[in-house]
Amino acid sequence: MVLAPNIVVRSFVAEDAERVSELIRSTLFTSNAGDYPRAELESLAEWYSAAGLVSRLPVARRIVAFAEDGADTIVGTAARRENRFEAFFVHPDWQGRGVGSLLLEALEEDARTDALRAVWLESSLTAVGFYTKRGFVAVGAPRDEGDGLVIPMRKRLPFGLP
Ligand SMILES: CC(C)(COP(=O)(O)OP(=O)(O)OC[C@H]1O[C@@H](n2cnc3c(N)ncnc32)[C@H](O)[C@@H]1OP(=O)(O)O)[C@@H](O)C(=O)NCCC(=O)NCCS
Repeated sequence: MVLAPNIVVRSFVAEDAERVSELIRSTLFTSNAGDYPRAELESLAEWYSAAGLVSRLPVARRIVAFAEDGADTIVGTAARRENRFEAFFVHPDWQGRGVGSLLLEALEEDARTDALRAVWLESSLTAVGFYTKRGFVAVGAPRDEGDGLVIPMRKRLPFGLP
C-alpha cells in the first residue's frame, strides 16, 4: 500500500459540513453503488446532508482527515457515538492509501481514552474486508433496518481498563 503523504486527522467543525457531505455523497455513489440500490443510497446521502451532519454534532464525535496539500482537501471522515463507530468514508480518489486506517486508529485511541474495552459498528457490505483486516469480527446476523443490509461487527480494544 502506498501511504498518502501528509494526512492529518482533526475534529469536524460545522464549517466542514458542506465539503464532508459532498465527499460522502461522492463515495456512496461511486464505492457503494455496486452493493446497494440507488434509492437506499439517496436516503443515506440525505441522512448525511450538511444540515444533518451539523444537527448530530452534539451526539456524534466526528473527525475528518485532510491532506496538507495547500488546499487542505478533506479526504475522509468517520464518527464515534460512545462505543459505536459509524460513517467511515474515504473519497474514492484517496482509497487504498491508508486514510481509512488513520481514521480508525484515531477513533480507537479516542475510545481507549474513554476506557472502552470494545467497540461496535455496522459495516456496509462494501467495507467488511477493510474492517476485518483491521481486527473487527462479525457478530450476529446481517440486518436491514431500512437503510440497506449491514453487518454487525465488534473489535476488542487492547489496553482498555479491566
Ligand atoms: C472502507 C473505507 C473507509 C476504507 O478506507 P481506505 O482508506 O480505502 O482504507 P486503507 O487504505 O486504510 O486500507 C486498509 C487495508 O484494508 C484494505 N481494504 C480497504 N478497503 C477494502 C475493502 N472494501 N475490501 C477489502 N479490503 C479493503 C486495504 O487494501 C488495506 O489492506 P493492507 O493493509 O493489506 O494494505 C473506504 O474504502 C470507503 O470509504 N469505502 C466506501 C464507503 C463505505 O462503505 N464505508 C463504510 C461504511 S460502514
